[in-house]
Amino acid sequence: MPPAPSPTASLSQLPPYVFAELDRLKADARARGQAYLDLGIGSPDQPTPPAVVDAVQRAIADTSRHGYPPFRGSPELLAAAAGFMAERFGVVIDAERQVVALSGSKEGIAQILAAYCGAGDVALVPDVYYPVYGRAPLLNGAEVHLLRAAAPDFLPSLDDVPASVLSRAKVLVVNYPNNPTGAVADRAFLDRAVAFARDHDLLLVSDLAYSELTYDGFVAPSIFEIDGAAAVAVEMHSCSKAFNMAGLRIGFATGRPDALDALLAYRSNVGYGTPWVAQAAGAHAFSHWRELSAPVTAEYKRRRDAVYGALAAAGWDAAPPKGAMYAWLPVPAGFDDWGWVRAALDETGIVVTPGLAFGPGGQGFFRISLVQPAHVLSDAVTRLAQLAEAPVS
Ligand SMILES: Cc1ncc(COP(=O)(O)O)c(C=O)c1O
Repeated sequence: MPPAPSPTASLSQLPPYVFAELDRLKADARARGQAYLDLGIGSPDQPTPPAVVDAVQRAIADTSRHGYPPFRGSPELLAAAAGFMAERFGVVIDAERQVVALSGSKEGIAQILAAYCGAGDVALVPDVYYPVYGRAPLLNGAEVHLLRAAAPDFLPSLDDVPASVLSRAKVLVVNYPNNPTGAVADRAFLDRAVAFARDHDLLLVSDLAYSELTYDGFVAPSIFEIDGAAAVAVEMHSCSKAFNMAGLRIGFATGRPDALDALLAYRSNVGYGTPWVAQAAGAHAFSHWRELSAPVTAEYKRRRDAVYGALAAAGWDAAPPKGAMYAWLPVPAGFDDWGWVRAALDETGIVVTPGLAFGPGGQGFFRISLVQPAHVLSDAVTRLAQLAEAPVS
């Protein structure tokens, strides 16, 4: 092969992606003919609702929608997003100025971080975290300062950020209901986060991808239900989890108009917006959020209860999370992080994610995604608990 230019230092020097190592383990298992149950990745296993599929089919048949979509979003998506914010959270936004359609919230998160954090800037990110919060600033030449966010509440401590870091910090990311821990945040924490952002001139990025997946009577607030948030925050919403629409790639950003303008400026320089059909699907989902998300939430609750019931029966002392679609559990005694992940695959045929995939704070934990029916999950957890009782040498 002739010599080729190398990718940028920021890309080449990104820390190893733990999910890539997990992929390697799975490929090895396949190569030896071993079947496995993949509870590693959080991709919903349930189909997209038929009414959303119908909306997609109608949209693709509409020839007026075969050109480029508007950069900010289709009128239907913008209106549906504003309707969702009003009905679900009681938050009134201007559909024209305060919504940007996204091809999934992950890219919106990466783009807003890239729009604000460059060389010399710092992003404040709770440890543990959904990987893009850390990797997008690094890709853009910025620094990431991790905030300790330990058990039992997994809320970041905001009081001990060194002044030298704080003076360069541009954004603070929060994500409750949380991936990977399932933790939720009360209003007192959100109040603190808003005040902290205001006091230190930060953009507060709230990732609400799991807003509809909460249990036991907890209802996740939008950051914009908090006084003062409108002046400091943007919030990312997604259809992927609440409506089983991960494959369609649709979500939206809302919040401070100037931050959304920056996001839009970034997006318009690198792409042509979000496909019309995905926006039609998103418009349908956000306009029918209540009836479409209720059965999804109920199913994840059944699964969560099955998993934590099986854990309790096996003698594990673990409190069920109030949000999201994961079980976040300590690595059993006698195993190190990767040793446990490998043993789970080799001995029980179950793929779990090592906590380290979500930052150094994840050391000593592993994550199970609730992406199988309840009886499959409870059987899997029972087998894992048996393995934990009998460490392999
Ligand atoms: C916390 C969190 N935010 C955002 C996303 C991205 O969702 P999407 O890009 O599908 O909207 C995920 C996906 O797993 C997530 O866990």
